Amino acid sequence: MKTILVTGASGLIGKSLIDLLLAEGHKVKTIGRSSKSDERFQSFVWNYKEDYIEEGALDGVDVIIHLAGANISSGRWTPQRKKEIVDSRVETTELLFRKVKEQNLPIKSFISASAIGYYGAVTNEFIYSEEDAPHTDFIADVCVKWEQAAKRFEEIGISTTILRTGVVFSETGSALQKLTLPIKDGVGSPIGSGKQYMPWIHIEDLCEMYLGAVDNKIKGIYNAVAPNHATNKDVVKTAARVMRRPCFMPNVPTGLMRIIFGEMSAILLEGSRVSAQKIENSGYTFNFPKLESALEDLLK
Ligand SMILES: NC(=O)c1ccc[n+]([C@@H]2O[C@H](COP(=O)([O-])OP(=O)(O)OC[C@H]3O[C@@H](n4cnc5c(N)ncnc54)[C@H](OP(=O)(O)O)[C@@H]3O)[C@@H](O)[C@H]2O)c1
Repeated sequence: MKTILVTGASGLIGKSLIDLLLAEGHKVKTIGRSSKSDERFQSFVWNYKEDYIEEGALDGVDVIIHLAGANISSGRWTPQRKKEIVDSRVETTELLFRKVKEQNLPIKSFISASAIGYYGAVTNEFIYSEEDAPHTDFIADVCVKWEQAAKRFEEIGISTTILRTGVVFSETGSALQKLTLPIKDGVGSPIGSGKQYMPWIHIEDLCEMYLGAVDNKIKGIYNAVAPNHATNKDVVKTAARVMRRPCFMPNVPTGLMRIIFGEMSAILLEGSRVSAQKIENSGYTFNFPKLESALEDLLK
């Protein structure tokens, strides 16, 4: 049994991950911008802008799982929003690092989320793996800074794992719900060319990968994506089939997406292929390697 501090615990991944960690017999503590009342774990507050972590949050902690970060796809990327997207990831990581180092805390592992945005919003047939260089667009830059901050834990001898995560599909609150809303109403269609890749992962597989890092089965940088490469059109058409809904509307025009979402539309209109080979080579067996079975599990 390990004591695990989870940041961003109230989010999509955090909620499912906490259920799994508790079911596996670990002790969980959470830290967030406001206090949570849940009798299953102790909850603490922090404010990275004020360099503040509530006393006791780091006491007895073996593993930190860092998920906190302002949502990337909830609104236009104004300069202020962009700063928040970066700072809420990088400065929170730096705050945790400073506290651990200053207090010489015996943390054994630091596990951080990152994103496949590291490879950029680029549509082509190249399959990106962990050794490939990062792209240069905004999200790639966010991921580079975020990972650099996380790797500081490694420099002080703490085992560090980074999961470059694809689009997480879950039963509620994920990108899948946004994508399937028009399909439910019979007006679903691919976005832009529909040819952009959409590296995806079932929430159950992602949480098991975090558990694998907690249990020291993996260490280092891994792409957390399913091995089955799917384009936006594949996802939309498969979802419609699983939901038994028609899907014949013309694609949502690229220009319209750009007008509505501005620069943020890049992550909806473009997408690269990302390899799951390294995580498979580590011995991990996917519960949902195929898109169709993942969507059947989540949408039926
Ligand atoms: N979901 C995906 O498809 C996906 C894909 C790739 C990467 N990721 C990454 O994985 C991590 C977790 O994803 P998620 O989907 O669970 O995210 P989420 O649902 O948006 O939750 C993130 C959590 O971060 C905290 N947070 C939000 N804004 C913040 C801010 N301005 N400052 C500090 N903390 C803030 C919140 O926790 P409190 O309210 O408790 O503070 C929130 O619940 C994120 O960093 C995300 O970028 C997610």
